[in-house]
Amino acid sequence: MGSSSSSPADGPTQLEDKYYPEWIKNPENIKDLTGKVALITGVSTSSGLGFYATKALALKGAQCVITVRNVEKGEAVKADLEAKLQEDGVKPKIAVMKMDNCDFASIRSFTDEFKKQYDRLDIVCNNAGVMGLDVQMTKDGYDIQIQTNHLSHFLMTARLWPLMKATAEKYGDVTITQVSSGASHKGGPTVDTANLNNPHPSHGFLLYLAPFVLGGSTGHWARYGQSKLANVLFAQELQRRIAAAGLQDKMKSTACHPGLAATNLQITTQKGGGMKDGAGYQKNGQSCADGSLPLVMAVAHPTQCEGGGYYGPHESQKGYPIKTKNENPLAYDEKVAKDLWEASEKAVGEDFQL
Ligand SMILES: NC(=O)c1ccc[n+]([C@@H]2O[C@H](COP(=O)([O-])OP(=O)(O)OC[C@H]3O[C@@H](n4cnc5c(N)ncnc54)[C@H](OP(=O)(O)O)[C@@H]3O)[C@@H](O)[C@H]2O)c1
Repeated sequence: MGSSSSSPADGPTQLEDKYYPEWIKNPENIKDLTGKVALITGVSTSSGLGFYATKALALKGAQCVITVRNVEKGEAVKADLEAKLQEDGVKPKIAVMKMDNCDFASIRSFTDEFKKQYDRLDIVCNNAGVMGLDVQMTKDGYDIQIQTNHLSHFLMTARLWPLMKATAEKYGDVTITQVSSGASHKGGPTVDTANLNNPHPSHGFLLYLAPFVLGGSTGHWARYGQSKLANVLFAQELQRRIAAAGLQDKMKSTACHPGLAATNLQITTQKGGGMKDGAGYQKNGQSCADGSLPLVMAVAHPTQCEGGGYYGPHESQKGYPIKTKNENPLAYDEKVAKDLWEASEKAVGEDFQL
């Protein structure tokens, strides 16, 4: 099914920023975040979406905590962020904390430590992710894509929820977003809530074509699509539960996607055998910085950040950020979302009560 691969490039393709530098400086796009604490997962390189989202949030005054599985990489990113923000006259507060999304014990240690160190949590960006990798079971017994991209973020959010809720009750404004992907709708993926480890979840006809366009196998992409649809379902169900708890004026749950952004994601996928030419494919997309803007909009736009909202580039693969709609009807299916919530609670071994 897969196509032959060329040697993976060392890093992402360099594409010009069309929107980011101006967009983040316009006060109509990002509200003042002075005093707020923001948590962004998966910020281990200066070429990832998390890097540019953190930079934008810190520029507006947020104290940012970035999570990484390799603290040395995180400290290098922190130094780079500080240097870049200081060029803009901002002295940011950035902290690096360890969290491995392939290990539920690591999520538990991280959340315990976070609660010891911080007395508020205003913004959460669940961004860490992998794409199109072979089936690999973590030590918790879950496939690497569903655990990294969804289950660990579900567990982290559940354990930090009391702090987020207390922050909302005290300051009145907490926002959480899940970084999904166009893969949540393209090709018609589904979520197998009865077996999150299904190596080949069912999908629409177009997903059969993914290997011809991208490389790898249909299974690589069906499992990625599943994990990214899970992100949107989680965001939607969380918003429904926020409303049911009467918290909708103080807390918002959103989801977003970056279009096609030139980051290490495609390079890592190619190295893992899931893609034939990651750097070449990136040339159809946009710069990493531009790709980070829907993520920033989803948590910090002064007027357009709405509970249940979905944000992405205006031309789908690239463009300026807009509020949009996921094209997969399953993304808004309440039964699937509820089943996924219950399957996720079972998988992580903890209830998520609001
Ligand atoms: N770039 C795109 O075109 C695109 C399109 C759609 C969606 N997305 C989504 O955007 C998000 C960010 O990806 P990106 O494009 O910025 O790629 P990236 O630069 O590769 O960033 C992914 C981040 O996730 C981290 N990560 C992976 N596995 C982890 C684990 N087990 N524990 C902790 N951290 C882990 C990586 O850290 P390590 O360095 O330790 O691996 C890295 O910091 C992902 O959720 C991805 O699915 C990206």
